[in-house]
Amino acid sequence: MPHPAELLRDSLAAHLDIFGSHDLLGEDTYVTPSHVTPSPYDRIKALIPEDSPLHGFQTLAEVETWVASTELIELDRTRTKPVFGVGHPKADLMVIGEAPGADEDREGEPFVGRAGKLLTEILKAIGFDRSDVYIANILKSRPDNNRDPRPDEIAAHVPILYKQMVLIQPKLILCVGKTSGNSLLGRNQSLKSMRGTFQDFHGLETLVTYHPAALLRNPNWKRPTWEDVQLLRKRYDELTA
Ligand code: URA
Repeated sequence: MPHPAELLRDSLAAHLDIFGSHDLLGEDTYVTPSHVTPSPYDRIKALIPEDSPLHGFQTLAEVETWVASTELIELDRTRTKPVFGVGHPKADLMVIGEAPGADEDREGEPFVGRAGKLLTEILKAIGFDRSDVYIANILKSRPDNNRDPRPDEIAAHVPILYKQMVLIQPKLILCVGKTSGNSLLGRNQSLKSMRGTFQDFHGLETLVTYHPAALLRNPNWKRPTWEDVQLLRKRYDELTA
């Protein structure tokens, strides 16, 4: 006759899940044990709508091919070229802008116009080549007359960016401009109130700073931008040491 303590032990063992927790609530009421923290990439993946074809892709090239052949919004029909993203496919730093302008629309590459050249200079000043990082935008298609992206356009395209993050697995994010920061973080804040400290994007440290096009208009913002990117470089070195 087994001892009652043994019976209890065996019945508990039968309910042990793969984490060694007792699933005493049963399958239907299963909750992730609090000591298991999903990675930022798992959390970002969960932001992509369940029925999105994006879930089926394993590589950036597959996603890029799908983006080039898919019309999610009107701008995907009127664009010259889609602007998917460029850089290191396993970059530790991802730089995120707003949307392609005329030069990017023509060339199919982000940040190649005047503002793009300034961004490249800023990155160089903190020791990064464009090929060290990954550069992408919230929108993959150019808004007509360079107008601000609309919320419905952002909602339709931002899952592509989430998928890029899931595949690249960066350690740090740099958002340039208010639209980029607010669109990614799901906020409606001033640039001033977001910059200067790291914000949290589902476990990924995210710095928001001025858009290089804004710096071309207002040189007074160059100093705070310089402070921001130095902070970014310091954190990058800590995280990649
Ligand atoms: N501005 C952006 O936000 N992205 C680009 O690619 C170019 C200009």
